[in-house]
Amino acid sequence: MPPDPATITADLTALEADARAQLRDASAPDDLERFRVEFLGRKGRLQAVFDAIPALPNEARAAIGRQANTVKRELEEQLLMRRGEVEAGAAIGRAERERIDVTLPGRWHRIGGRHPLRMMDLEVRRIFVGMGFDVVEGPEVEKYYYNFEALNYPPDHPAMDEQDSFYISKDLLLRTQTSGMQVRVMEERAPEPLRVVVPGRVYRREAVTATKSHTFHQCEGLHVDRGISMAHLRGCLEVFASELFGEQVEVRMRPDYFPFTEPSVDVSVTCLFCRAQGCRLCKHSGWLEIAGAGMVHPNVLRAGGYDPEQVSGYAFGMGIDRLAQLRYGIDNIRTFADNDMRYLAQFR
Ligand code: PHE
Repeated sequence: MPPDPATITADLTALEADARAQLRDASAPDDLERFRVEFLGRKGRLQAVFDAIPALPNEARAAIGRQANTVKRELEEQLLMRRGEVEAGAAIGRAERERIDVTLPGRWHRIGGRHPLRMMDLEVRRIFVGMGFDVVEGPEVEKYYYNFEALNYPPDHPAMDEQDSFYISKDLLLRTQTSGMQVRVMEERAPEPLRVVVPGRVYRREAVTATKSHTFHQCEGLHVDRGISMAHLRGCLEVFASELFGEQVEVRMRPDYFPFTEPSVDVSVTCLFCRAQGCRLCKHSGWLEIAGAGMVHPNVLRAGGYDPEQVSGYAFGMGIDRLAQLRYGIDNIRTFADNDMRYLAQFR
């Protein structure tokens, strides 16, 4: 039985009403897609109308065809418009969700700071680099030879005692000083001139107290050239001290003894806390010791491959922990190793 034109016209009208209602309620891209499939799809309701047209009586065909085409165009147009609206709405929603209140206070990110020993290490390097020294580093596990033998220690020197050093084997130990690098550097960098500093960690078998520890830090200095004298050593240390502590600081050298320097001195600066008036920190002397130093012993120059008849040099070894203590007013060196964040945060 051929379809009845009146039924189809009614279908078309109902379809259009349904479509408009559904489109009005569509609020998400999914709703729109469902709408498209249901009404405009290849198996959709509108296509069903088109499929019915060929079977209609001649006189109805053209009018219904026109009506169906009009409905189709309109629905397509409306779909397009609605899609624009839905997309704009989604964009606004996203913007709302991601809205940033620029008047809120910022979030605080905890950032790391430098340890006072590290700060002092960097400062010491900076000063010596400014004076033309190269910075080199050496092994913390050192050969007995470099740590003692090449440094002119007599065979029975007490410093080499197992009681005072951490031995790893007969010929290996945790270095007790950075001075071993003197000979290593000379071996590597012959001939003169030579100007290096060697910052690094050193170890001694020592009970931990407020002023001593088994692990601490030194900075070795070595300057070898023709005609180097004590005056060069003194000048170097004075420039260093005034760079680190200020112009007003004075340097004192007193005779001392080290196997690897001759003559040897201990080096002090005027007490920063009492301005050399005498206080508890400087034990009422007005002076604070910061380094050992001296003229490189001929035997050490020889061990490094240099001719003591041709060249001379000075060397010094300063205590980085001590310098940091003086600079930051730290009275107990144990705090360096405690890793208490509340304490360390002061020095940032
Ligand atoms: N190495 C010595 C010490 O540990 C310091 C020093 C270095 C002395 C260089 C003289 C020359 O105390």
